[in-house]
Amino acid sequence: MKNITLDITKAAQFLKPGTVEGYEAQVKDAQKALEDGTCAGNDFLGWLHLPSSITDDFLAQIQAVADTLRSKCEAVVVAGIGGSYLGARAVIEALNNSFAWLVNDKKNPTILFAGNNIGEDYLAELTDYLKDKKFGVINISKSGTTTETALTFRLLKRQCEAQRGKEEAKDVIVAVTDAHKGAARAAATKEGYKTFVIPDNVGGRFSVLTPVGLLPIAVAGYDIKELVKGAQDMEKATAIDVPFAENPSAQYAAVRNGLYAQAGKKIEIVANFQPKLHFFAEWWKQLYGESEGKDNKGIFPAACDFTTDLHSMGQWIQQGERSIFETVISVEEPEKKVLFPHDDENLDGLNFLEGKRVDEVNKMAELGTRLAHVDGGVPNIRISVPRLEAYYIGQLIYFFEKACGISGLLLGVNPFNQPGVEAYKKNMFALLNKPGYEAESKAIQERLKNE
Ligand code: PA5
Repeated sequence: MKNITLDITKAAQFLKPGTVEGYEAQVKDAQKALEDGTCAGNDFLGWLHLPSSITDDFLAQIQAVADTLRSKCEAVVVAGIGGSYLGARAVIEALNNSFAWLVNDKKNPTILFAGNNIGEDYLAELTDYLKDKKFGVINISKSGTTTETALTFRLLKRQCEAQRGKEEAKDVIVAVTDAHKGAARAAATKEGYKTFVIPDNVGGRFSVLTPVGLLPIAVAGYDIKELVKGAQDMEKATAIDVPFAENPSAQYAAVRNGLYAQAGKKIEIVANFQPKLHFFAEWWKQLYGESEGKDNKGIFPAACDFTTDLHSMGQWIQQGERSIFETVISVEEPEKKVLFPHDDENLDGLNFLEGKRVDEVNKMAELGTRLAHVDGGVPNIRISVPRLEAYYIGQLIYFFEKACGISGLLLGVNPFNQPGVEAYKKNMFALLNKPGYEAESKAIQERLKNE
């Protein structure tokens, strides 16, 4: 098996010589603090050695429940938001047929995602689509109190029971939640649903390698053993005893902190040239945004799908404010083969490409973009992934998680909390007159009167 590789040379050239190497001691301290559990947020370090702690027996338990859902459901709704959703979607969409929901090959259930918004039309259309389907639900919520997910679960539970009967519904509703607390746990205990636990010491955005991600990924038909194996191998490749220059997570953390602190690069754009990686970038955005964006600090994580967004964001990236750098996730080999076709009339003048692999054209677009953006003052980090396979996605996940922990500590924040997420919830509950929020409701009404 190959490894994903990292090339920071086209980013480091924007920094004073020796800048990346200058981070070695700080990176070592950060790694040590993670290993010793002495850093801020040390009650959320369960992700650090999670891959190597996963046993075959545990994966078999997940696979068994996944197989039940696969055999009994035409569609499975994954209900969750943020860290309780993005990892599963990132992996499934990276591995899926781009038109999975239209292909419907009867071998795999259609995977749908909900519980991640409060869109009334979305929910109406979802429940309408499901009304003649044998569907199941994976209800994922660590707290069990998240409004978006709880609302969706209320609707789907009722519909599933009405369509399949309470007994059969029990086999196709699964809860992934806290071991003891919350509404999802209480409902599962009351109704006798199969459950998996989200460990206390693993935060949502680091939870894709727990049942939060593994169960939906197995239901979609992907090899969770290979995914975990990739993460395990990356855990070794980024371990504290790996020399700084050879440790991809350490290098990535160092160079992005250098770009932020020394070169004024406040925005990182993760770009792909494979549309299947769109949701991988969404997962990455949460991982880095929630981990680093606090104490009035942090690189703003953005994402683009290329070449699509070169026709919308390309102008800004090439010539806008020089506050950005780019991290390109490049896939070496596509899974399928399409050749550029001949056209007798050649009206578009593209016959010179006839017979070439489409991917060769894509790779030249990628190289051309890198050269242009670097010329335009955009530092470029490149992560090369051999193929879009579960094993390499597993490597990529752990590579980014490890780098995120180190990077947040280099920045001087607690990378494992997210206090800012509560602000909108508090206001929303006050505006909706939630019992217990009387004082906040009064204050917010006063404030609105004066605005
Ligand atoms: O990373 C996080 O902690 C958040 O994104 C949560 O995962 C998200 O808010 C969902 O929370 P819960 O799993 O409690 O429903």
